[in-house]
Amino acid sequence: MAKTLIAFFSRADENYFGGSMRYIEVGNTEVAVGKIRELIDTDVFKIEMKKPYSKEYNPCINEAKADKQANARPELVSLPESIDEYDTIILAYPNYWGTMPMAVFTFLDAFSFSGKTILPLCTNEGSGMGSSEGDIRKTCAGADVKKGLPINGSSVGSSKPQIEKWLQANGLI
Ligand SMILES: Cc1cc2nc3c(=O)[nH]c(=O)nc-3n(C[C@H](O)[C@H](O)[C@H](O)COP(=O)(O)O)c2cc1C
Repeated sequence: MAKTLIAFFSRADENYFGGSMRYIEVGNTEVAVGKIRELIDTDVFKIEMKKPYSKEYNPCINEAKADKQANARPELVSLPESIDEYDTIILAYPNYWGTMPMAVFTFLDAFSFSGKTILPLCTNEGSGMGSSEGDIRKTCAGADVKKGLPINGSSVGSSKPQIEKWLQANGLI
């Protein structure tokens, strides 16, 4: 039977919300993932770095920038043993410097996505999907990468209707 996995990266702690900084307990992308799960039943995997970026916003953006410039593949806490049983992967992540956090590349490099469908969802503060859809296509040879859903991180709380439409358009509802 067709099975879907949500793989996501999200960072809580200090972030920037339309003009001011604030500490949050659950990251924006994780909030969006919660809304997907209210709509469909899927397995979920959280992509977590062994050495997470700083809790404070400013050092965090510099660390993430350095990783992007180095084309780094940060080590992850764990990986699923296999993704063979899934035919669809919902890949959710924040926009970091115009693309995905490098830890998401670490995840993508670990598996073959050939023959699988990937649905990208990217929370952001204005840059939309950035280059992430193209980057996923380049990284995941043979995958069918669908049009992604950009969500404004500051208003993720009201994103359920958008998410529902997108899941419907992709035949998951
Ligand atoms: C390191 C870092 C880099 C970011 N770069 C961008 C960017 O280039 N464009 C953008 O629109 N938002 C950028 N943002 C904002 C995040 O994409 C946005 O706040 C997102 O919703 C955070 O998701 P999370 O709470 O799930 O981690 C950046 C945030 C961080 C922490």
